[in-house]
Formats: sequence, structure tokens, C-alpha cells
Amino acid sequence: DSDWTRLCATGDVPEGEARSFTAAGKRLCVINDGAQFYVLDDLCTHGQAWLSEGYCDTEDCVIECPLHGGLFDYRNGKPAGDPAEKDAPTYAVRVEGEAVLVALA
Ligand code: FES
Repeated sequence: DSDWTRLCATGDVPEGEARSFTAAGKRLCVINDGAQFYVLDDLCTHGQAWLSEGYCDTEDCVIECPLHGGLFDYRNGKPAGDPAEKDAPTYAVRVEGEAVLVALA
């Protein structure tokens, strides 16, 4: 069983957008695609940029890194466009009432 940590409120992340929150010393990118919440490491695996500051495309389910335009599938962290090569770590998410919980273990 995982340990669930409260990351933010559902209302903190507008539909179709990404926001950054920190839990347990980890900076995370939270995406609300309208149907579901997703959480991945906020730091891009390609360089020094925050994915939460990039463009979120809910049609293709990708987040675009603001620095070099690398694309990541936010559902599983898989690289989806150059120069992204390494998976972005993702975390299990659960919504309980108005709380977005994440499994960091
Ligand atoms: Fe994100 Fe280069 S830092 S694509």
C-alpha cells in the first residue's frame, strides 16, 4: 500500500493547465486535463526547465517543455517529441473530495 500525500486542491489547477506544487521536498507538475489529474516531476529530464511552465495540450495528452519544446506524454511520462529522450517520472494520483493526493513512495 502506498502512502498518499496531499498535493493541492482540485480547484488549484484550472482545467487544461499545469501547476507546480511541492510535496516531501519534491517539485511536481500537476496537470488537470479536464477528466483526470496527472502528476510528474516538474524538472524536465532534458535540462533546467519546469514542465509546469510549459504548454499543456490535452488533445494529444502532452506537456511541452518551455525551454526546447520537448514533448512528454503526461499520462505515462514517455517522451513524445524531440529533444525529450528520457522518461519523466510519474506518480499515481487519487482525488479524494477536493484533495489531489499523490503516491510518492
Ligand atoms: Fe526541456 Fe530541453 S529542457 S526540452
